Amino acid sequence: QPTLLADYRPYPFDVTGVELTFRLSPEATRVVARIGFAPNPARPGRNDLRLDGEKLKLHSAKIDSKPVKPDQDAEGLTVPASQLPDGPFTWDAEVEIDPKGNTALEGLYMSGGIYCTQCEAEGFRKITYYPDRPDVMAPFKVRIESDLPVLLSNGNPTAKGKGWAEWTDPWPKPAYLFALVAGDLVAVSDTFTTMSGKTVDLNIWVREGDEDRCAYAMDSLIRSMKWDEEVYGREYDLDVFNIVAIDDFNMGAMENKGLNIFNSKLVLASPETATDGDFERIEGVIAHEYFHNWTGDRITCRDWFQLCLKEGLTVFRDQQFTSDMRSEPVKRIEDVLTLRARQFREDMGPLAHPVRPESYIEINNFYTATVYEKGAEVIGMLKRLVGDDGYRKALDLYFERHDGEAATIEDWLMVFEDATGRDLTQFKRWYTDAGTPRLTVAEDWSDGSFTLTFTQKTPPTPGQDKKKPRVIPIAVGLLNPNGDEVVPTMILEMTKATQSFRFEELASRPVPSILRGFSAPVVLDRDVPAEERAFLLAHDTDPFNKWESGRALAKDVLVSMIGKDEAPSQSFIDALGRVLTNDSLDPAFRALCLRMPSEDDLAQTLHDAGQVPDPEAIHAGRGALSKAIARSLQKPLVATYDAMATPGEFAPDATSAGKRALRLACLWLLNHIDNGTRAAALFASADNMTESHGALACLIEGGRGTREIGAFYERWKDNRLVIDKWFMVQVLHAAPKDAAPTAERLAEHPDFEWTNPNRFRALLGALGANHAGFHETSGRAYRFYADWLLKLDPLNPQTTARMSTAFETWSRYDVDRKSMIRAELDRIAATEGLSRDTYEMVTRIRAAD
Ligand code: ARG
Ligand code: ZN
Repeated sequence: QPTLLADYRPYPFDVTGVELTFRLSPEATRVVARIGFAPNPARPGRNDLRLDGEKLKLHSAKIDSKPVKPDQDAEGLTVPASQLPDGPFTWDAEVEIDPKGNTALEGLYMSGGIYCTQCEAEGFRKITYYPDRPDVMAPFKVRIESDLPVLLSNGNPTAKGKGWAEWTDPWPKPAYLFALVAGDLVAVSDTFTTMSGKTVDLNIWVREGDEDRCAYAMDSLIRSMKWDEEVYGREYDLDVFNIVAIDDFNMGAMENKGLNIFNSKLVLASPETATDGDFERIEGVIAHEYFHNWTGDRITCRDWFQLCLKEGLTVFRDQQFTSDMRSEPVKRIEDVLTLRARQFREDMGPLAHPVRPESYIEINNFYTATVYEKGAEVIGMLKRLVGDDGYRKALDLYFERHDGEAATIEDWLMVFEDATGRDLTQFKRWYTDAGTPRLTVAEDWSDGSFTLTFTQKTPPTPGQDKKKPRVIPIAVGLLNPNGDEVVPTMILEMTKATQSFRFEELASRPVPSILRGFSAPVVLDRDVPAEERAFLLAHDTDPFNKWESGRALAKDVLVSMIGKDEAPSQSFIDALGRVLTNDSLDPAFRALCLRMPSEDDLAQTLHDAGQVPDPEAIHAGRGALSKAIARSLQKPLVATYDAMATPGEFAPDATSAGKRALRLACLWLLNHIDNGTRAAALFASADNMTESHGALACLIEGGRGTREIGAFYERWKDNRLVIDKWFMVQVLHAAPKDAAPTAERLAEHPDFEWTNPNRFRALLGALGANHAGFHETSGRAYRFYADWLLKLDPLNPQTTARMSTAFETWSRYDVDRKSMIRAELDRIAATEGLSRDTYEMVTRIRAAD
């Protein structure tokens, strides 16, 4: 029973208005709905009225004030066309729901005594009967009745009294953007004056006691509002903008119109409790959800296959924002690291799917790195191909043409074609074809002309065996042997399977710098001699490729150490030393250069090279290289560690964060040779979470830190976000043999509130991310992990399904590991009553065999 893109048909009725009344009560909330329907001219003839609804107790239903008896089933109800008036009519219904019993955290539920909602993608149908699909857009009026002090919904507050409040949202919206919050909350408030001079009230709602951790989120919101005006010309369109922080939340955050609901970990931050990484994520997600107001809310998606229309674009916008607020090259490297770690992994495995999928069983399973991150990369390529002006023209046209509509990827590409005159027929394959293209390069040099010949090939993915060539923008620059740039960055537009590009009149054979700025989400398969990589690491003017060269060097060295037992390369270590001590380079950039490729990344690299990765050998190899670097570069590492201290008052800005990142990167390496003395000293003296958490991670990685783990707990036991870190750090950095036992022990801890998604992810997510620990030979971690998935599934299918991706790479490994994982996947799939979410995921993963 998959849903297919090809089956799309408009809904037979337009919704002209929605009025909802909520009588809140934890176990028996009444929802009274009055909905205006009118025949949709796009679907002529007489049609049944079909409304979605799940887990609703229907108390009464009327059409034009006359009681009706609809046909009910598990997924909704139907009123036959014969019982409907000819023209417009009014539907009245009263249902009862149980927010307290709602552990799936979808629809209306309770988190720590606060009523809240999560309706994307299909949660509204758990609130009342409704055409719960994004192309049905309507203005909403909401009345909330409750004794709780704070009652919020979408739009503007229009009336209130003792025990009730009314909200009106004038902007037509799909039901997935509906939100309601009620609770004992306090606001941190500010205002923003828009470019046309309107004042908007801004509130961040939190529990009493959390007010002093909202300043950074508020500052980020104000900067986001300003940035969207300056860069995209987008102004906010309501009198108020509310954000609420909630502890039990399946995802990061949600862009409900005028009432964004956030996972509290993406709102609350102070220097003592949040790391620099947390600050950066808060800034990025606050921006992301705010930017959705235009790319998501004002213009939404016709159906869920078009999810990347809003998510890819909004991720792209939040990436632009962060690179404007912080450092562009550092942000680019960070984004590519995540893309490779999550999206490439997905694209090369059993869960590969196009940026715009064509079929799904459970849409919640398609909020993926491919839809989000690759969706953003595709927009980056479009921008590269049409240029900054073309992009701006296309976006202006998009907002003008589709405001108030539910649009498609075809609409999106059409505005680019119309604004720039470009034919995007071939480019569209980036949306329809799954898989990561692999690019090989041949070089030719003769008589002052240099030719690069590229060949592209995309491996088969589930359901798509043959791939046609794609448009690939390849940014290239040329350096001469002295390290001077002789041809600055230009975009080569590759459109064929094999294609050559020639550079003329060169004085000497150049060194090419290919795929600068990571200009396309492809794998560049190119055997480059170590000297050339070192040359680019030293001389490339493109910061991304400068970093990339060092990264590739590190990988080559690690692969030869792991696979062939070779000694660590001294020339690599020397090159790294030159980066470390080059004060003209941004500390954040140097920190990224010092960071070793992840074990999962190395496993994929070995697998691509036709080897069977051995997780323990990878772990050992990475440790050995770190140790060799620390020995050889001890002096400059110590000097840099000292120089990167950030005394004085903590500042979360990018420059200070970059210093701390470099300091911790030095500490990480030195920790391999100093018996943990520096980490212990830093842990004892640090006044900020970045350093105390970093120091603790080093101690645990070195098999130490028992005392510090205890001290950390005592200090932070009343702060749940910090205790999440406490769970995570112990499992993530445990030695391969200790990971599963540590996780098992911590699962018995009284604070392991496993129904809270953050806490569950802190422990189980860390186990899945501890590569050598998860794949430890006994299979103990696999079993434990699967047990917990089965325990969570009946309560929270969405989080369970998402976490099953820890197994997605299983076919890389040896027969013993494979058969153990296969047995776990089969055990999960065979469990009676397994959710549709988890069933879809484990069967897709299992098919990799
Ligand atoms: N639209 C939200 C965001 O990107 C995410 C909502 C995810 N919901 C879900 N059911 N998977 O910010
Ligand atoms: Zn989003």
